[in-house]
Amino acid sequence: MIKSLAYLGVNSPRTQDWRRFGTQFLGAELAEDGADGSVRLRVDDAAWRLQIHPAETDSVAYFGWAVDHEEDLDVVVRKLEAAGVRAVRGSDELAEQRNVNRLVTFTDPWGFPHEITWGQHFYPATFRPGRASSGFVTGSQGLGHVLLMMPDIEAGHAFFSGVLDFQLSDKIIVPGQLNARFYHVNARHHTLALGQCPPGVGVFNHLMLQVKSIDDVGTAYDMLDEMDVPLTLSLGRHTNDKTFSFYCATPSQFNIEIGYDGVEVGGDWVPYTYGTPAIWGHKLDPEAKNRPPGIVHQLAQ
Ligand SMILES: [Fe+2]
Repeated sequence: MIKSLAYLGVNSPRTQDWRRFGTQFLGAELAEDGADGSVRLRVDDAAWRLQIHPAETDSVAYFGWAVDHEEDLDVVVRKLEAAGVRAVRGSDELAEQRNVNRLVTFTDPWGFPHEITWGQHFYPATFRPGRASSGFVTGSQGLGHVLLMMPDIEAGHAFFSGVLDFQLSDKIIVPGQLNARFYHVNARHHTLALGQCPPGVGVFNHLMLQVKSIDDVGTAYDMLDEMDVPLTLSLGRHTNDKTFSFYCATPSQFNIEIGYDGVEVGGDWVPYTYGTPAIWGHKLDPEAKNRPPGIVHQLAQ
């Protein structure tokens, strides 16, 4: 079944802004542009991990999930079809564009586009960060984690846990304010988080990238001002995964969390419920209140 987040693709009118944001702020490396002029960013030895395609408006293009074995693709397809979700085998051309061996695509019940992939292409010992940094925690933990929001989190739980086998790590519930669930598929505390949002929309809120040094969090925090990157949540430490992090806006509406020191889960993990998301910090920036909570799309009626 799914073992990690392999990559993320978004459509955006601001692809060019990602060249500087990606390299100078995030410390990623530019890979060769995609065939459609997409900007492709590396954070490790994978061919690329983040791809920003040129488009008129911001939208999620795909969440790319990796399985370990080719036959696992068929297992995922069978589970999706049993749940009434149509999965389509991606063409060889699409697999080539994604730099994977094989993939299937599907859209979840909330309109988020997904790709299940096998055989992502790696080029060992080739990653060169875009600025001085210790690099990113990836490997078997994949690219990082994403937070998706939907109006009916119970149905979200039933789909991602029941059909796609994401394992519950814990919940954070602040009555009237926050209802979130966190899921692991490898040692990373969560690779997927779900949050409840108002009716009628789906939201891609953020991607978390985990850096190898606390100083890399501090350096990026310093660069917010220097590079005019809008802060979303101030420095803080999460209650559940204990990640020390801050959140900022990307050129494409969703946020990025730059994190350090997240806990790892093992076989004896017990899912707790927390009543607050942060031990300290993670205050919403006053200006962030005027921005959308991420890439928002309308749900089909
Ligand atoms: Fe996060």
